[in-house]
Amino acid sequence: MSQPIYLVTGAHGFIGAWVVKRLLASNSKVVIFDKSPDPHRLRLIMDDDEIERAAFVAGDITDGETVSQIVEQREITNIIHLAGLQVPTCRVNPRLGAMVNVIGTINIFEAAKNSGGRVKRIAYASSAAVFGKNDGAVTEAQAGGMNTHYGAFKRCNEDNARVYFLDNGINSVGLRPLTVYGVGRDTGMTSDPTKAMKAAVVGRPFHIRFGGKTDFLYVADCADAFIRAASADLEGAHAFNSHGETIDVAAVVEEIEKLIPSAKGLITFDPAPMALPPALDDSAIIRALGDIPHTSLAQGAKETIERFARLHSEGRLDTSDLDQ
Ligand SMILES: NC(=O)c1ccc[n+]([C@@H]2O[C@H](COP(=O)([O-])OP(=O)(O)OC[C@H]3O[C@@H](n4cnc5c(N)ncnc54)[C@H](O)[C@@H]3O)[C@@H](O)[C@H]2O)c1
Repeated sequence: MSQPIYLVTGAHGFIGAWVVKRLLASNSKVVIFDKSPDPHRLRLIMDDDEIERAAFVAGDITDGETVSQIVEQREITNIIHLAGLQVPTCRVNPRLGAMVNVIGTINIFEAAKNSGGRVKRIAYASSAAVFGKNDGAVTEAQAGGMNTHYGAFKRCNEDNARVYFLDNGINSVGLRPLTVYGVGRDTGMTSDPTKAMKAAVVGRPFHIRFGGKTDFLYVADCADAFIRAASADLEGAHAFNSHGETIDVAAVVEEIEKLIPSAKGLITFDPAPMALPPALDDSAIIRALGDIPHTSLAQGAKETIERFARLHSEGRLDTSDLDQ
């Protein structure tokens, strides 16, 4: 059997950059697709020689013909679809949000359909935003009652994926992370804990705009879960919770202060939790895909802070995202 060729959409984004890093580390063939030609997040975590091993194609996910052409010309066999707009953008511009997040996902499934069976499976980013406010741990079946357009779009994608399996036999896995953190996270509602780590490194005060418990997932684990989902021999259209560690924002701040004692008192947070569940039950994904890698907050925060500190010492740490 020939080697799989992965298309990673949104690969110049935060999670995408880590997916590319992990795929290249296992010598996989990778085609990067992004509207933005700027590889700065890749450069935060990889050197130029590594990055050059991936092919880059610039394009807009809302342009279905281009997406299908790329899948055809590059002989793509597996797709990891991460291109999308986050909560704040979808709130301000729901029409654009629907074009990118919903139609863009339809375009990926159409490209798979047009490939005549060469695309074996799609892993795509859904989100914990498919849940409404909830105080406990939620299972997949409790999705619904979304309180953002973004969440409604993600839920719509899960339903469309199910129909593409029923009508066209396309296998897919949607993953639902909540608060993903790590180097490269600089936008979106749940980016504040990562920004707080960066602020602590440069000795600046920072206010996290939510509190209480949330489901924290280290980006390397998130990337590995997407790769597993895009490669596993699993039939059907699945949508799985993506669990990390359920932890209080206060404990994240404590961890930062432990790693950088001079940051004590610099990081503050709102007491109100986000209107999302604090914990995602992950028994279904473990049953389907086996044990998913799990990095503790202590280790994930340490790696993130060390990398930020190194970038800072090299004069390469962009802090413009800290200006809220
Ligand atoms: N980061 C999280 O905590 C989190 C949690 C749940 C779900 N998700 C989902 O995971 C995916 C990746 O998230 P992220 O944090 O890496 O986001 P990100 O904003 O860092 O990256 C998104 C990428 O998509 C690209 N993109 C946007 N519009 C495009 C278009 N029209 N055509 C082509 N590319 C386009 C952007 O240029 C960017 O590189 C998204 O779908 C997001 O909704 C993220």
